[in-house]
Amino acid sequence: MKRYLSKLTGGVAVCAIMIGAAGAVSAADSSVEVLHWWTSGGEASALNVLKEDLESNGVAWKDMPVAGGGGEQAMTVLRARVTAGNAPTAVQMLGFDIQDWAAEGALADLNAVAAKEGWDDVVPAALQRFAKHDGKWISAPVNVHSTNWVWANKKIFDELGIAQPTSWDELVAALDKIKGAGYTAVAHGGQPWQDATIFDAVVMSVGGPEFYKKAFVDLDTDALGSDQMKEAFDRMATLRSYVDDNFSGRDWNLASAMVIEGKAGVQFMGDWAKGEFLKAGQKPEEDFLCFRFPGTQGTVTFNSDQFAMFSVGEEGQAAQVKLASSIMAPSFQSAFNVVKGSVPARTDVSDEAFDACGKKGMKELAAANASGKLYGSMAHGHAAPAAVKNGIYDVVTAHFNGEFDSETAVEELVSAVEVAQ
Ligand code: GAL
Repeated sequence: MKRYLSKLTGGVAVCAIMIGAAGAVSAADSSVEVLHWWTSGGEASALNVLKEDLESNGVAWKDMPVAGGGGEQAMTVLRARVTAGNAPTAVQMLGFDIQDWAAEGALADLNAVAAKEGWDDVVPAALQRFAKHDGKWISAPVNVHSTNWVWANKKIFDELGIAQPTSWDELVAALDKIKGAGYTAVAHGGQPWQDATIFDAVVMSVGGPEFYKKAFVDLDTDALGSDQMKEAFDRMATLRSYVDDNFSGRDWNLASAMVIEGKAGVQFMGDWAKGEFLKAGQKPEEDFLCFRFPGTQGTVTFNSDQFAMFSVGEEGQAAQVKLASSIMAPSFQSAFNVVKGSVPARTDVSDEAFDACGKKGMKELAAANASGKLYGSMAHGHAAPAAVKNGIYDVVTAHFNGEFDSETAVEELVSAVEVAQ
């Protein structure tokens, strides 16, 4: 399966009009300042692939890390930097945030390098929808993550004779067994974006792709206020009963560590979690299992980390273009994503270097796209703009922490989405 995403491209007109050379960069005066939230062990390893790649091309890397999974804190710091007139060269960014900054006129025009390197032909349409604004390339997509995964400790599954669950009932039965054996069943970090990541998968599993789209993309009031949504909240309450007492505020990578160390059975998390397992020397299918959240098989909720390029003076542009070009190189896309847990943002990268979970991820992404079952993740800014996303976060987290019952949560969700629009 060499061209795993070939079906994701169709239908996007080539609209780059500014054709020009990327320009040579002299080592002495070229550097990029990159704001990102890749601070966990696995994330830092992946970022190193990019740093080293760039440095070997004569561009110095000025690191601007802002810890906090999901990137909320990073976006707050970014806003302050831009307000102070001091935007970084490039910023890790998700979905609608990229479009919001582009609409403010803050982002650079990458059309020249995009045209020269043929990005239009190799970047899936689902990603171009966020990487381009008014016909201009404004960011370079580095990966595709998907968020509806389960990461399981294989030893615990084997010891308890648990088969990979494929339905909600099977999942609950598996969690009961794990809890009954004295383990923490669900490793979870109580932070709004993590609660919302689980909610993505639960909503998909309750109502299927059409319901997910109606609720999170179309923001349809009937779907948001439906019995199915109440069922989704009921399931969240059920999952809440399987987390340990110390879950509140825990970082996602510490939750991954609980599964890695054999203290917990499963984590529901995007495939950046795989980066932590790999970093700890674990192997898929030997030490850990990756499978879709039960009831969501065949569908994929995705997010794509992109590096949005801010308008910098002429002196910074050559290095910026070099960064964009490095990110888009097929060899880099393979090397980086093998470490990160994600899959390439180009259609023409071989799956050869990827492990079993990576190969599965690439295949399922292409299949979901071909069958119309690929949807942007609400939790990770690819279904609705930030204001709506944050409104949903508040309700999901308040409910998860027992402040609302499911019925109230449904009402609150409807009004939170209404207010945010
Ligand atoms: C996501 C991002 C991933 C990963 C994760 C946890 O939003 O797309 O690359 O970093 O946050 O930090």
